[in-house]
Amino acid sequence: MPSTLLNDTFLRALQRQPTDYTPIWLMRQAGRYLPEYNATRSRAGSFLGLATNPDYATEVTLQPLERFPLDAAILFSDILTVPDAMGLGLNFVQGEGPRFERTVRNEEDVAKLHVPDIDATLRYVTDAVSQIRRALTDAQGRQKVPLIGFSGSPWTLACYMVEGGGSPDHHTVKAMAYTRPDLMHRILDINAQAVVAYLNAQIEAGAQAVMIFDTWGGALADGAYQRFSLDYIAKVVAGLKREHDGVKVPVITFTKGGGLWLEQIAAIGVDAVGLDWTVNLGQAREKVGDRVALQGNIDPAVLFASPAVIRTEARAVLDSFGNFPGHVFNLGHGISQFTRPENVAELVDEVHRHSRSIRAKN
Ligand code: CP3
Repeated sequence: MPSTLLNDTFLRALQRQPTDYTPIWLMRQAGRYLPEYNATRSRAGSFLGLATNPDYATEVTLQPLERFPLDAAILFSDILTVPDAMGLGLNFVQGEGPRFERTVRNEEDVAKLHVPDIDATLRYVTDAVSQIRRALTDAQGRQKVPLIGFSGSPWTLACYMVEGGGSPDHHTVKAMAYTRPDLMHRILDINAQAVVAYLNAQIEAGAQAVMIFDTWGGALADGAYQRFSLDYIAKVVAGLKREHDGVKVPVITFTKGGGLWLEQIAAIGVDAVGLDWTVNLGQAREKVGDRVALQGNIDPAVLFASPAVIRTEARAVLDSFGNFPGHVFNLGHGISQFTRPENVAELVDEVHRHSRSIRAKN
């Protein structure tokens, strides 16, 4: 169904086109800080029960948009659906985070890895994408805000596949990169092919922008980051459909801790680069010029402060970027589950209000 976007600010900003105000969405905007999320999650029984059921996934995707005037929706899912589809057996242990039943650590494990058939194994994700698109659209075909699809980066997925879950230092996966670079590159190559197929399937199903989460790229040394993470993100970007139904599909990449490599990240063909809170946004903009848009980067911890402080810090981020096109406001990483929803409302309001007043100075 052809739809008209009622609010295309986010897609325009990603393409560095002028907008009336700075669009904002939040990483992990649907999640445990929202009581309505927790209620749906307990009906679903578990996080995976939620993520694998397109009805529930649609419901929780829309929840933050009903509370706050956010400028984009993001598919409710997880990056670990891909290694799960490769047969590694994903579980979420209460209070401990993700765990895989099987790890990938030697020649034999790697030999068993394959690119999953997306339609056979991850249909619940593409079904959720099309269902969310419909739910965002009214009877007249008017869509509220665009929908973002996403995936983990090949390296970040490999971190979970090799470690078997979260890790404080990524000792096992980093050791493997140095002792068996051949195995590491085979894993990364399979992951890159899987991510291309997965993101293209999301684009086909209706995702209007896609984001690659490289949460653990910043754990790598300079040089190793380029070989083991950035090169594979570049391969993914090269394989993506950049247009669907005649409309451009922008690509965002986010390496947490990647500020040092900003110019290199900006050169791999993405439309936008996500930044964490360690980066000065104004300096970042000067470095990339008009090559890419920037997304970020307020410290999620600011949301624990008073409304007045939240508003001051939001203005500082906007002022630092300055009166230029090409900024999507976001947190520097995912929102904490201990955030008060009322504080999110303050942030969203200040970003819209203050960015309009910056534009008015033109
Ligand atoms: O942004 C959104 O609202 C979309 C949903 C989304 C989730 N995970 C839902 C989720 C997205 C984009 C992700 C990405 C993701 N998942 C990343 C990359 C981004 C980042 O945060 O660095 C990573 C590393 C994961 C892996 C993952 N999933 C971990 C480590 C955990 C446990 C951490 C925790 O907060 O407990 C998850 C679970 C998860 N994914 C939750 C949500 C809302 C919490 C699960 C719950 O409800 O119990």
